[in-house]
Amino acid sequence: MGAQAQHRTGRVRGDARRPRRAVRRGGDGSGRLRRVLLVHGAGRDRARTPGRPGLRRVHHGDGHHGADRGAGGGRPRTAADRHRPSARLADRRPARRAGRGRARPDPRAGGPVTAAERAAAERVAIVTGGGQGLGRAYAARLARAGNRVAVVDVAGAAAHAAAADIAADVGADRVSAHEADVTDEDQVAAFVGAVVERWGRVDALVNNAGGALLPAAPFDSFDRAEWTRVLDVNLTGQWLCARAVVPHMRAAGHGKIVNVSSTMVSKGLPVGLAPYVAAKAGVVGLTRALARELGPDGIRVNAIAPGYIPVETRKTVHTPRAATALRERMKTEQCLPVVGVPDDLCGAVEFLCSPASDFITGQVVNVDGGWAHG
Ligand SMILES: NC(=O)c1ccc[n+]([C@@H]2O[C@H](COP(=O)([O-])OP(=O)(O)OC[C@H]3O[C@@H](n4cnc5c(N)ncnc54)[C@H](O)[C@@H]3O)[C@@H](O)[C@H]2O)c1
Repeated sequence: MGAQAQHRTGRVRGDARRPRRAVRRGGDGSGRLRRVLLVHGAGRDRARTPGRPGLRRVHHGDGHHGADRGAGGGRPRTAADRHRPSARLADRRPARRAGRGRARPDPRAGGPVTAAERAAAERVAIVTGGGQGLGRAYAARLARAGNRVAVVDVAGAAAHAAAADIAADVGADRVSAHEADVTDEDQVAAFVGAVVERWGRVDALVNNAGGALLPAAPFDSFDRAEWTRVLDVNLTGQWLCARAVVPHMRAAGHGKIVNVSSTMVSKGLPVGLAPYVAAKAGVVGLTRALARELGPDGIRVNAIAPGYIPVETRKTVHTPRAATALRERMKTEQCLPVVGVPDDLCGAVEFLCSPASDFITGQVVNVDGGWAHG
């Protein structure tokens, strides 16, 4: 292995035989299955956890895996997790200096304790289309990761319901709801203005609002208005929202924009969604162009390309039968033969909004079980 650390994930039982120096017992001692990350050959590199030779334990998620994922999947969240950022790296601001001389909050209160946690607790993220489906999951995850979150949706009631749900978990002072159409410049300016007025900053924008919107059909059967509508919501809306938040990010010298594309772009599938695939391909171009342009301002711009993830929102894009067929087809064509769930995307979004991804920009991350390559 040399100096290079070899990583391997796996599960062990509390009483299972294991390499003594590599695995440390944890949890509640009940002997339940626990996930651990084994780090071999970590003695001389950065994988080594300070003060705990050869050991690094990681938390692998919230356990919201679909039924076909098998048992297990993490521990239940506790109140103490609420403001804990998942990013293990310290914020790029000098952590020690930030923490020096300040009163440390009582750790038993479950609030931020370290400088990195305090920095995370100040961050503000906007999630468009956050009232339902994937956006709602992103908003909830970002809030639990310590961010203050603004939920924006053209469906105002959904935005408010999602915000109320999140507030029950993290507190009403850490979430806001905004009814707005991302294709309307005035409404975009209004919600960004409201967020800045309330919290004084915007650290992250998740440009999630969108969808195929129209039933699948031959490319030449769409009329001009339909074509324009799909491009407006999925592409122009992302540009408008980026344009509105960038001045605030520029002033702060940092920011994270996460655009939402689709894995469908890589293969042009499924047939019948030409406006949508074109719009989501445009998102990739927008992401790269903005990354180039905004890098010098400290603003990172990336995209995620989700695979097919069933959500509860009622959609008319596919008939129920076609939706089932697509889901099964994707499953068989993916490297991982499982149907994705919204939570599968949240880790990538959280990562791309956090300081842990500070050296990543202009990238498109396929989160699709390995359906597309490259
Ligand atoms: N679910 C999937 O399989 C999948 C796959 C790839 C990409 N995506 C993308 O992920 C995003 C979310 O998809 P979803 O499946 O959760 O859809 P969804 O329909 O469940 O949620 C989309 C949300 O966006 C809101 N919205 C729509 N138009 C808007 C507008 N003009 N302004 C503000 N809000 C608006 C809707 O009200 C809704 O709450 C979309 O951009 C979609 O294209 C989804």
